[in-house]
Amino acid sequence: MIEHAKILAVDDEPHNILLLKRHLQILGHEVVGAENAIVARAKLDRSFDLILSDVMMPEMDGFEFVRAIRDNPEFDDIPIIMVTTLAEKEDRLQAVKAGANDFITKPVDPLELQVRVGSMLRLKSQRDDILHYEKDLSSLVESRTIELQKALREVKKSHQDTIIHLSSAAEYKDEETGAHIIRMSAYSAVIARTLGLDEEEVDLIHKSSPMHDLGKIGIPDHILLKPGKLELDEWEVMKTHAEIGAEILGAGASDYVNMGAIIALSHHERWDGSGYPSGLSGEDIPLAGRICAVADVFDALTSKRPYKEAFSVEKSLKIMEEGRGTQFDPAVLDAFMASLDEILTIKEKNVD
Ligand SMILES: [Fe+2]
Repeated sequence: MIEHAKILAVDDEPHNILLLKRHLQILGHEVVGAENAIVARAKLDRSFDLILSDVMMPEMDGFEFVRAIRDNPEFDDIPIIMVTTLAEKEDRLQAVKAGANDFITKPVDPLELQVRVGSMLRLKSQRDDILHYEKDLSSLVESRTIELQKALREVKKSHQDTIIHLSSAAEYKDEETGAHIIRMSAYSAVIARTLGLDEEEVDLIHKSSPMHDLGKIGIPDHILLKPGKLELDEWEVMKTHAEIGAEILGAGASDYVNMGAIIALSHHERWDGSGYPSGLSGEDIPLAGRICAVADVFDALTSKRPYKEAFSVEKSLKIMEEGRGTQFDPAVLDAFMASLDEILTIKEKNVD
C-alpha cells in the first residue's frame, strides 16, 4: 500500500479539483491539479501513482485522455479512476474500453473516494512490487550467470592444471622433460590452426596433447630409462604405452580427457599403416593423432636424448620430409612446414 501517493486530478472545474485535494490531502496524499487533458498530459510523469479524470471536458474528453495514456507504454500501468456524473451503462463500457480501472460518481462522496483510491493504490503497489521483483530477479540472474561463468572458468583451469600435473608424472619417469610436453602441445595447436580447425578444436588439441605419453607411467624403469637401444622384446613392452595411456584416460566425462585418450592411442600410428598399436592407415587415424605424431617426432628429433644428440633443425626437417606419405599425413606435414616460423619461435622460448 502506498502511504503518500502522488495523484493527478484532471477537471475543468477548479472547484472539483479543490474538493478532491481537500479529501485526499488529509489522507496524506499529494494532489496535482490539471484544468484539462492537454495540461494533464504535459504534467504526467512516472512519479504519479494514480489519475483521477473527469469525463466531460472541452478540447479532449476523458475517454480520449485515458486512451492516450494507455497507448503510451510508459504510463500504461498507472491506475485511472474516472470521476463522472454519467451513470449510463454505455458510458461506463466506453470508459472500460478506453482503459479506465474504476469510476466514482459526482458529487463525490468522501468515503467512497477514500475506498476506491485506496483499492487503486493497493493495485498500483502490487504492480510496483512485481516490477521491482522482476528487476531484482533479472539482475540476480545476471550476477549469478557471471558467477557461474567465473566458476566454470576456474573448474576448466583446475582441470587443465590437473592434466598438466598428471602428464608431468609420466614425464618425471621419462628421459623427456616438462618442456617437451609444453613444446609438443604448442606445436600441435599451431598445426591444427594452420589446418583450418576452429579455435575450440585447436584448444582441445592444445590442452589434451600433453597426455600423449601418459601410458609411460606403466612401463618398467629398466626399459623406459635404458640408455642404449631397446631389444626387440623390450621395444614391444615400450610400445604398449599407447594403449596403457588410453586405458588410464578411458572414457571420461571431459572432452579434454576423451581427446587425451584418442591422442594417447593414436600418436604412434603411421600414415602407411605400419605404426602401432592398431596399424591404422590414412584418415582412419584420428586427425588429432596425425597432428600430434608430427609435433612429437619433430620435438624428439630436435631434442637431446640419452641415446642421441639433438639434431639440427635442417637435419630434422629433412628426416621428417622423408616420412611424408609413409610416416606422416602429407597435409599435416604441409601445415607443419607452412607454420615453421611459429614452431621455431615456440622451440626457442621453451628450451630444456
Ligand atoms: Fe609416445
